[in-house]
Amino acid sequence: MRVLVVGGGGREHALCWALSASPLCDVLYCAPGNPGIAQVATCLPVSAEDVPSLVALAQKEKIDFVVVGPEAPLVAGLVDALAAVGIKAFGPSAKAARLEGSKAFMKDFFARHNIPTAAYGRFTDAAKAKAFIDAKGAPIVVKADGLAAGKGVIIAKTTAEAHAAVDSIMTEKVFGAAGNEVVVEEFLEGEEVSFFALVDGTTALPLASAQDHKAVGDGDTGPNTGGMGAYSPTPLVNDALQARIMKEVIAPTVSGLAAEGSPFKGVLFAGLMITKEGPKTLEFNVRFGDPECEVLMMRLKSDLLPALTASADGQLKNFDLRWKDETALVVIMAANGYPGTPQKGTVIQGLDDAAKIPGVQVFHAGTKANGSAIVANGGRVLAVTATGKSVSEAQALAYKGVDTIKWPGGFCRRDIGWRAVAREKTR
Ligand code: AMP
Ligand code: GLY
Repeated sequence: MRVLVVGGGGREHALCWALSASPLCDVLYCAPGNPGIAQVATCLPVSAEDVPSLVALAQKEKIDFVVVGPEAPLVAGLVDALAAVGIKAFGPSAKAARLEGSKAFMKDFFARHNIPTAAYGRFTDAAKAKAFIDAKGAPIVVKADGLAAGKGVIIAKTTAEAHAAVDSIMTEKVFGAAGNEVVVEEFLEGEEVSFFALVDGTTALPLASAQDHKAVGDGDTGPNTGGMGAYSPTPLVNDALQARIMKEVIAPTVSGLAAEGSPFKGVLFAGLMITKEGPKTLEFNVRFGDPECEVLMMRLKSDLLPALTASADGQLKNFDLRWKDETALVVIMAANGYPGTPQKGTVIQGLDDAAKIPGVQVFHAGTKANGSAIVANGGRVLAVTATGKSVSEAQALAYKGVDTIKWPGGFCRRDIGWRAVAREKTR
């Protein structure tokens, strides 16, 4: 098969790494890719958001199967545009991708299908949003309706903070049109997990659980990011909880989307809060998580490519995937300044030495080649990943990889996996 992966971050590096190992994959392209991806695929300079150029590229290169990494091209209808010219792709149609593209749509969908989630209100009027906030009290959560690169959610400890969030989203438009509408919701207490399932329109196949670390600082302090590190599986999601998540969250979502005329194909990524009453859905994403994808790919034993084509072909019913028993853990190295304005162009050294450590895989997230040097070219820059028999072991090895990389222009959290490591210590 001639395969094209769309995207250029750590998730797409992990996907390309796994796909390049498939005996079914003859040719692997990535648009736009990055210097890490270039080690396993041919990178082509087409933006992941330029739908017409991606379709033209897939036609020109006679691509058999397109794997879409990020949400933006999915929401913009890349899978539909490819289908219109007879090219098969992994990922949902634009209609099904609305689940991630609009939080207001998503919350109403949860309500229609009895999917457990936080109580909420949706508002196009700032004064009404503020009145709702005053009526509910703090802590309370304010969310921009549209896509805001994981930054459009403000957890307000006071009603004044919540009012300020409404002003910055709706009046100052810090997230642009994504803030034309806000969702205000009840603050949920518990531990957060990411859960992934492959879906083919009607059948859902559980993949694995992971735990992300969204806050920029150690001990979960500071502003939210796209994710500073993750590990999989998380011991919190045992077999019983997984069965409950499949039954209460994933199954009604799959059947609900199908019943509403937008059957979902691709990967469903549920962000769940495990509360005292059970799992509650914070959000759905219509793609693999980043950096969760990096740890999932490290653990996947089966060939990824037939699993993704089975999703596109509606053939998941009798499919089975095998996973390594080990834990995988990823530490994100970000450019100084992130999640504000990251500093670009700083030189990264020691990548080859880190790659030589057995069990360590360094995925590139936001890098660029500058002559023979690799330089930072984004917020999240590297995803240093390792496997181990326990979370503690995987963590130690991942940080060994991190410490081998010489990059004064970057930083990372030093405590990825801390909840699970603490649990392992008390065992
Ligand atoms: P979202 O993009 O909606 O998943 O929100 C980003 C992050 O904000 C989540 O991963 C949670 O850590 C946090 N969050 C969102 N909604 C809530 C909520 N209702 N209660 C507590 N934390 C939340
Ligand atoms: N790591 C969270 C996300 O991909 O949205």
